Amino acid sequence: MAAIEVTEDMIFQCFAAAEQREQRAKTAESFIDVEEYEGKVMYPEFARWAEKAGFPKLATLFRKVAGEESLHAVWLRDLYREIGVPTRGEDTQRAVDALQTIQQRCDALLALNPTSVIEKALRVALAVEEREYANIYPGFRDQAKAEQDERASRVYQKVVDSERQHAEWFRAALHEFPSASAVPV
Ligand SMILES: [Fe+2]
Ligand SMILES: [Fe+2]
Repeated sequence: MAAIEVTEDMIFQCFAAAEQREQRAKTAESFIDVEEYEGKVMYPEFARWAEKAGFPKLATLFRKVAGEESLHAVWLRDLYREIGVPTRGEDTQRAVDALQTIQQRCDALLALNPTSVIEKALRVALAVEEREYANIYPGFRDQAKAEQDERASRVYQKVVDSERQHAEWFRAALHEFPSASAVPV
């Protein structure tokens, strides 16, 4: 049987990056597509892994962040009411496929080495949040600002602050991982 392996890079493939587009309504659509994916698919899956691996506190953290990602999408939906089901971005589709591909492998690996999978998931979550608050969403904020859309610019700034907070939570969780309280019993 082939060795079961799940690398950090494989987990990172589950991350979809929102894209800044020429029209700001299209940027908002990409944002909603990605945030809803994170909130409804990616982080709930990370929470499932953490639960299965015996790290209930981390599962709670992943679920809490999932809820906030869904909320970020709601904030933008409030400003762009005409966006219904967003067009699935290429990168989001690729991420959905990557998640499905590693799902089965992950389930097997969780039984063998739960700590390693969860640590990798945490590292990826931290990298994702850092990229969003430092690189991706400030650009969205500036695009809205350049087009005198103050409300959207304020909302994107709120998102940047929230993603920074997520990064802090994941950094702290990683720092104490695997602590006595987090180690499977
Ligand atoms: Fe978010
Ligand atoms: Fe986030």
